[in-house]
Amino acid sequence: MQERDEESRSKLSQFGDTPPEEFRKQLHELADWIADFRENIEQLRVAPDDKPGAIRARLPKHAPEEGEPFEKILADVDHIIVPGMVHWSHPMFLGYFGWTSTAPGILGEILTAPLNVNAMTWRTCPAATELEIVVVDWLRQWIGLSDEFEGVIYDTASVGIMHALAVAREEAAPATRKLGLTDRDLPRLRIYTSDQAHSSAEKAGIALGLGEENVIRIPSDDQFRIDVNSLGRSIAADQQNGLQPMAVVATVGTTSTASVDPVRDIGNVCREAKIWLHIDAAYGGGFAMLPEYEWIRKGWELADSIVINPHKTLFVPLDFSVLYMRDLARLRRVFSLVPEYLRGDTVEAEKNYMDYGIQLGRRCALKAWVIWRSLGRAGVVARLREQIRLANLLADWIKTDGRFELSTQPSMGVVCFRFVGRDGPPGRPSSSARPAVAPCHGEWPNEVEVGQLNSDIVERINASGRAYLTQTKLRGRTVVRIGLGNVLTTEEHLRKGWEIIQEAAAAL
Ligand SMILES: Cc1ncc(COP(=O)(O)O)c(C=O)c1O
Repeated sequence: MQERDEESRSKLSQFGDTPPEEFRKQLHELADWIADFRENIEQLRVAPDDKPGAIRARLPKHAPEEGEPFEKILADVDHIIVPGMVHWSHPMFLGYFGWTSTAPGILGEILTAPLNVNAMTWRTCPAATELEIVVVDWLRQWIGLSDEFEGVIYDTASVGIMHALAVAREEAAPATRKLGLTDRDLPRLRIYTSDQAHSSAEKAGIALGLGEENVIRIPSDDQFRIDVNSLGRSIAADQQNGLQPMAVVATVGTTSTASVDPVRDIGNVCREAKIWLHIDAAYGGGFAMLPEYEWIRKGWELADSIVINPHKTLFVPLDFSVLYMRDLARLRRVFSLVPEYLRGDTVEAEKNYMDYGIQLGRRCALKAWVIWRSLGRAGVVARLREQIRLANLLADWIKTDGRFELSTQPSMGVVCFRFVGRDGPPGRPSSSARPAVAPCHGEWPNEVEVGQLNSDIVERINASGRAYLTQTKLRGRTVVRIGLGNVLTTEEHLRKGWEIIQEAAAAL
């Protein structure tokens, strides 16, 4: 009888919410679950060894007819969901860009959930709107951006660049917002970016009706930075051929190697051609907080827009990306549109963030405020410096092992290298005669085999569940890529990761 009472109490009643006492109990359980997960994360495999479809097969095909108790749901999370995940917050997760899970970040996410507000206009949640203004401005000050720039939060950098280029498109082809691009006898609008830039430039071209073939990839130099002379030539050739240059996307922290384009030179080309300069600082932008990284900020004053992803480097949990624009009213002119049913919810003099993009509903910036207050500027800077130290340490280890070659000296938290075999492929100089950093042009013989070996190393390690790495291609060569940044990854983890790589290479 008592059992049955408890069972019925633990169920959500047909109407309304969970009874407060039951909810409190569940919250305590969840708090313990989260703390245990964080504390014991190293005992998990970094990546599952399931075949595609295996997780789906363990889940019911149809949604339940009746509600189920939270305990049962949590048990399935433990038994089915957690083992089926790649654990980005695991200290041996060394893929992509090192991850942003931190205890204060988790607290920020938890705190956001019960509030569940919508920052679409000032009136729909004044504190969310004003908090967004404040945190975006904190970040602007931290990275030393002038106050001519104002920001707006989107989910991702891909969405940020699309909005920036929508404004560039409006300025290159006025009235596109109203009339669209077709039947107007407009020249083809062109966007330029380096062969190392992120594919979000093409995605924006697709979404904005510009066409992905009008995103022109300019070659990069031996340090993976855009060749500014080629850029200038390409723009001039397009102008001569009746095409209309619209924007250049410079990258500060490219996806493969974290290389940094010469932004000031690019900015001068843009000024001369009177075209938009967007800086994709999705990854690298956060490093502008370090005084010793002042050099990556050179030329930002010439930008029209800059995107930074605090969910990549600045410890804000996914998703959280900021687009800065010089004179944000330009963005508003393209996207402001107040439907009748929201007219009463807008206050003219106040910021209504729904006017600054295609989204109406918007999340609250609370999690950024919580994490940045918790770490402070000094805490963020110290953690970024540690990433850089670890990246350079790994580069040193790679340089001292003749079976490996470093692709480029790391500039931030990314390290690219490749296994070249015991003595390197035939025809190569011996390891002692080799340069510390591999030359980027020219082909070694047996490239296909060497590339395959490097892919195999990554696959083998990821399948083992002991660590997680990624691979990329540089000048057609497959290389292993490591991204640091997880606050749980220590020198000891990195050493273990390096030993695992050496073991996998030896076994091959
Ligand atoms: C340089 C760069 N820009 C843009 C992006 C896209 O970021 P998001 O996932 O926020 O769209 C990435 C993703 O890794 C990136 O490396």
